[in-house]
Amino acid sequence: MSDKTCNPINTVISRRKFLQLGSAAVVTISLPAYLRKPGLAAAFKANLVQYERKVIAKLSELKPNEPVAFNYPRDDANSANFLIMLNDAAGGGIGPNENVVAFNSFCTHQGGPLAGQLHGEKGIAGPCPLHWTTFDLNRHGMVISGHATQGLPQITLELDGDDIIATGVMGLIFGYTDNKENPA
Ligand code: FES
Repeated sequence: MSDKTCNPINTVISRRKFLQLGSAAVVTISLPAYLRKPGLAAAFKANLVQYERKVIAKLSELKPNEPVAFNYPRDDANSANFLIMLNDAAGGGIGPNENVVAFNSFCTHQGGPLAGQLHGEKGIAGPCPLHWTTFDLNRHGMVISGHATQGLPQITLELDGDDIIATGVMGLIFGYTDNKENPA
């Protein structure tokens, strides 16, 4: 079998070379750029697409761990999202405690509905009723466990006075080939 593969680790050190170094050797592996970034925010930024801004709620009317439903960036069923005030600060969170976040309501695996499975006090969505995927709402919706391989699409937010404004989406919403422009 050839030593040359698409694996970025193998582009740095071949299997043969590794065996020559012996088991006690300390090997420094150069990770691909997307794994070298210091925080999750940097990795997710590449997937962020901004859309028309839309006021979706008032900060003063939010109650901790009580989700508010809204549609964005389209008005159809797949664009159903939830806005939630978590107990702790979150990636992309707004408000004085940086704990107000929003996500799409459908599991990225096969579209299981998550609206009844939101646990703001724990910072999780799930387990999904279909195959049990759970998403971390404090960390940009990344998968904690289960069948899904893609994080939950996060709706980016801004605060303007008391207005909470949706500004874009990080990740592809389930059922779409494009979040905004093309038909599903
Ligand atoms: S649809 Fe949610 S885990 Fe399969």
